[in-house]
Amino acid sequence: MPALLEIQDLTICFETDEGPVTAVNRLSLTLEQGQILGLVGESGCGKSVTAMSILRLLPKPASRIASGTIRFHGHELLTLPLPALQSIRGNRIAMIFQEPMTALSPLHRVGSQLVETLQIHRNMPRKQAWPIAAHWLKRVGLPDAQERMYAYPHQLSGGQRQRVMIAMALMLDPALLIADEPTTALDVTVQAQIFDLMREMHKPNTGMLFITHDMGAIWQMCTHVAVMYATEIVETGTVQDVFAHPQHPYTQALLAAIPSNASPGAPLQAIPGQVPPLRALPKGCHFSDRCPHVFARCRQVHPNLFATSSGYSRCFLAEETT
Ligand SMILES: Nc1ncnc2c1ncn2[C@@H]1O[C@H](COP(=O)(O)OP(=O)(O)OP(=O)(O)O)[C@@H](O)[C@H]1O
Ligand code: SF4
Ligand SMILES: [Mg+2]
Repeated sequence: MPALLEIQDLTICFETDEGPVTAVNRLSLTLEQGQILGLVGESGCGKSVTAMSILRLLPKPASRIASGTIRFHGHELLTLPLPALQSIRGNRIAMIFQEPMTALSPLHRVGSQLVETLQIHRNMPRKQAWPIAAHWLKRVGLPDAQERMYAYPHQLSGGQRQRVMIAMALMLDPALLIADEPTTALDVTVQAQIFDLMREMHKPNTGMLFITHDMGAIWQMCTHVAVMYATEIVETGTVQDVFAHPQHPYTQALLAAIPSNASPGAPLQAIPGQVPPLRALPKGCHFSDRCPHVFARCRQVHPNLFATSSGYSRCFLAEETT
């Protein structure tokens, strides 16, 4: 049976004033039904661009898919005719955007927007859709859900808008949920509540692509993880394996930076150095300028993904052990 989502060899470029840049480089990942795959990495590594490409929501003509395929249940999404793609969007594949206003119209009350979503995708009469929409606002923990149905997005706080968008995405019970930093604007209590709700909605026949820069959130939410660094996947595996035996020095650094790993009162460990700019990626391994294990070859040759005992790692040290 084909995977729920299979991305192969995806390369995404942007045209900018300074010329073309590659934001995602030859990325492959597979998400099977029943899995929650975490895509994790520092700011700018290409997580959102990857997510947006699945539903073909990248800006045109600024962006270009230079290579690759994206299959949903075996069907290629990149070449799917627009009407077919539109019927999949929001219905079978829903997305929680990093920025809530991407999904909400500023001109319409949030209740109307939720109701309209149910009308379009579930063919539901307005009268029937209204209480269901209000119920979902309550489920995502919005206080005074009934009253909030009449609010315009600008009358809500950032966190409240984010919860409206989460309600909109979960309400249709999608086969694939793409959640891009779904809880960034929320305090920890609400975040825990949203995580519970997302886990509750997740079933053996659905899948979730969960995007974050927070390894702690990956541990709480995901079954599998793909670690991204500067346009590429550098490590994949099950959450259990990767957390127990991280193979890539970047994954090791991310895990060392989780606050709970630190002894009480110890300062949070930041990863030394900075992500290289897309325009000036190192010739060899993208992580070579920050890696504590760097050696001469790393600066000359770009490493492939090597199979490890627990998954894949884009590091020459993994090559030596296999
Ligand atoms: N419209 C655009 N034009 C040019 N470059 C872009 C555009 N959108 C994104 N990029 C570049 O693509 C790269 C990846 O961006 P992306 O938004 O995917 O990062 P991210 O991993 O989601 O980061 P964050 O954790 O901050 O959300 C960035 O370097 C960004 O500057
Ligand atoms: S290939 Fe070299 S520089 Fe890159 S992560 Fe491995 S040891 Fe570090
Ligand atoms: Mg992002």
